[in-house]
Amino acid sequence: MTEPLKTTVLISGGGSNLQALIDARDSGRLNVDITHVISNVADAGGLDRAERAGISSSVLPHGDFDSRDAFDRALALLIAASAPDLVVLAGFMRIIGAPVLEPFQGRLINLHPSLLPLYRGTETYRRAIESGDRQHGASIHFVTAQLDGGPVISQVTIPIETQDSPDTLAARLSPEEHALIVATVELFTRHRVECADDVVLVDGLTLVQPLQLQADGRLDP
Ligand code: GAR
Repeated sequence: MTEPLKTTVLISGGGSNLQALIDARDSGRLNVDITHVISNVADAGGLDRAERAGISSSVLPHGDFDSRDAFDRALALLIAASAPDLVVLAGFMRIIGAPVLEPFQGRLINLHPSLLPLYRGTETYRRAIESGDRQHGASIHFVTAQLDGGPVISQVTIPIETQDSPDTLAARLSPEEHALIVATVELFTRHRVECADDVVLVDGLTLVQPLQLQADGRLDP
């Protein structure tokens, strides 16, 4: 077996996606070593999940810094301390800039609750419902300087029901996000995916459209 993929997870909230990664690690599905969890929110529920799983964590409150740049520089140092192969933004609700992007280019991925390029930013569920969309979903993309704009690796799609509210839609998407993040990180553990010139390569081939999560939990073109 190859070395476990050293993975740092950035969170701001409940950390259910972090938990999905921990559970997949514990069940043997994911060959990852989650070496560090970083939160910009001191009482993020995900910090308790990390502690229960025996994973070290750090809190870096963005309010303690004079500028976005100073926060980003401190974040970059903190990430570098655990020398990760992969950095997963799993509900990390801060825009990150050059001090983090440059040293970790190609190793930063973000989970976003929409079918990108639709609905970058916040309130994606409400915006999808109000637009009359028939489907919604989540995407995982490489992080670039553009908000939610980097090349998309994988997506999961669910139908929007006529009676859906943003809350019911979010609740139905959540378990699908968990499956998506596990399947996508699994690709990294197998060294099957990389980012080159703003393009995603899977098994060395350019991805023309995001991989889609299948009912069996695998990702297919
Ligand atoms: C997830 O739904 C994720 O898609 C979203 O935050 C939630 C985190 O949940 N991310 C974003 O909105 C990023 N723009 P969790 O804390 O339970 O994993």
